[in-house]
Amino acid sequence: METHANKCLQFNIIKECSVSKARTSFMVLPHYTVKTPVFMPVGTQGTLKGLLPEQLEALDCHIILGNTYHLGTRPGPELIKKAGGLHKFMGWNRALLTDSGGFQMVSLLSLAEITEEGVKFESPYGGSNCMLSPEESIHIQNAIGADIMMQLDDVVKTTTTGPRINWVDRCIEAHQNPETQNIFPIVQGGLDNELRIKCIKALMERDVNGFAIGGLSGGEAKTSFWRIVNLCTDYLPKDNPRYLMGVGFASDLVVCVALGIDMFDCVFPTRTARFGCGLTESGQINLKKQAYQCDYRPIEEHCDCSTCQRYTRAYLHSIVTVDTVACHLLTVHNISFQMRLMKSIQKSIEEDEFPEFVRDFMRKCFVNKE
Ligand code: GUN
Ligand code: ZN
Repeated sequence: METHANKCLQFNIIKECSVSKARTSFMVLPHYTVKTPVFMPVGTQGTLKGLLPEQLEALDCHIILGNTYHLGTRPGPELIKKAGGLHKFMGWNRALLTDSGGFQMVSLLSLAEITEEGVKFESPYGGSNCMLSPEESIHIQNAIGADIMMQLDDVVKTTTTGPRINWVDRCIEAHQNPETQNIFPIVQGGLDNELRIKCIKALMERDVNGFAIGGLSGGEAKTSFWRIVNLCTDYLPKDNPRYLMGVGFASDLVVCVALGIDMFDCVFPTRTARFGCGLTESGQINLKKQAYQCDYRPIEEHCDCSTCQRYTRAYLHSIVTVDTVACHLLTVHNISFQMRLMKSIQKSIEEDEFPEFVRDFMRKCFVNKE
């Protein structure tokens, strides 16, 4: 079988923690060099809801995530390809990662059905039946032109047993741009150690430059979650980036960095902003609550984001239910919060102070509650 060598990703580890599996690196991608551990904000339709590419740049965001399922439907692969790819189309010059689409369909549309051929679903934009095959997912992702594409995966619910499908070889085979785009396979296997190990061993035989861990953002017990992440990073190669999909709570980021994860994405910071919530070191605060009516402090005292520089909790409280601009202000703060957290993590690993960082972080997060 012909395999396509991935030649467009370099993973240069700068420093490893001496007591945990944490590491910090420069991941060199075609459009940008991404410092890790990294959190990737999620843009669904080629925009990050409530934020412009220039604002993301100002927040020192190196990489964002786009969605094949959404972009493939609207505006569609032909239009994006004609525009010269999604980078050009949306005016984002830094790194971009696209998820393959299957997970979004299964999680958004309860009617999606997994068959050998692909993911079968009823289009939400029209009544007809559609099929997202591995080849179609890669075709769309090639048109989008992201620095990293994801294989189409069969997300195993933590309760599923029995044989599952893996489309990784069909994805690799369909990939047209191996010189400019990477493809990451996704480790599945639910909460079963043996299934996870079996999947990792099979994926490691493929010619790829990084690995993702999927199927773990579904509300399983933390102990199971940590066990599987720890197991996966024990078996995955040390010299490739490891991407934990769909994880974005601050405490999960800190723990999973310690377990050897390099990349994360989650809709949580942007979604919770749209619900009126701001992230702080001691958890999230809901600005809709009466408690903030006369609170003249910024969302977070030491935050240097443009929202915290100008606006108080009281002001945000007063506009949060009347104007969507409040959601934009909260999104700026929340993304700024995530970026700052990852920067502090990177810095602490570099300076050999990651254990102290974790201790401080956990104290603020769980002990010193206001
Ligand atoms: N996002 C969060 N979890 C997953 C997963 O298991 N697979 C894919 N493709 N995307 C995800
Ligand atoms: Zn702020």
